[in-house]
Amino acid sequence: MPFKKIDISSFELNPFKRIGEEWFLLSAGKENDFNTMTAAWGGMGVMWNRNVFTAVIRPSRHTFKFMEENNKFSACFFGNSNRDDLKYCGSHSGRNEDKISHTSLNPVFIDGVPAFEEAKTIFICKKIYRGEIDENSFIDNSLFEYYKSDTFHVVFIGEILEILEKE
Ligand SMILES: Cc1cc2nc3c(=O)[nH]c(=O)nc-3n(C[C@H](O)[C@H](O)[C@H](O)COP(=O)(O)O)c2cc1C
Repeated sequence: MPFKKIDISSFELNPFKRIGEEWFLLSAGKENDFNTMTAAWGGMGVMWNRNVFTAVIRPSRHTFKFMEENNKFSACFFGNSNRDDLKYCGSHSGRNEDKISHTSLNPVFIDGVPAFEEAKTIFICKKIYRGEIDENSFIDNSLFEYYKSDTFHVVFIGEILEILEKE
């Protein structure tokens, strides 16, 4: 596989640009049954003395079921490439179609976790926390704007097991 493992202590990236502007594919499942979706919200940092990656998913997403049912997930970053593929995976549901077949993406499995050959950076994570965004905990009520037509997100915090970069 054309990826090399990165030592996290020498890993550098701008999370605001990578997550918020370039987006990522969040994937979970098994070789014969997995799903992926585009995400642009989340974070990376340190929690409980562990290096973590946080994703937030609305239960209405088909990917949600796979995040619930599997212990690990991946976050794949593509830089500025595969933009149309990310748009497609962010606007079509795997509940209705094999959406990967409509993209130029090729799945790869890293220790059984779904990811994509075309990714430039891959985070492989193990879930360590799951929690629901609580309506009563908002301090800035203008954020309810994001929940007029869909449910509150569920937060998944994953311990980063490895970071891989394209060789
Ligand atoms: C740029 C972009 C960012 C998105 N970010 C998120 C996100 O962080 N969380 C989420 O629940 N949905 C997010 N979505 C929506 C899902 O990607 C979209 O609903 C997708 O079709 C779900 O696919 P699925 O039903 O196969 O899981 C985003 C969509 C786009 C286009």
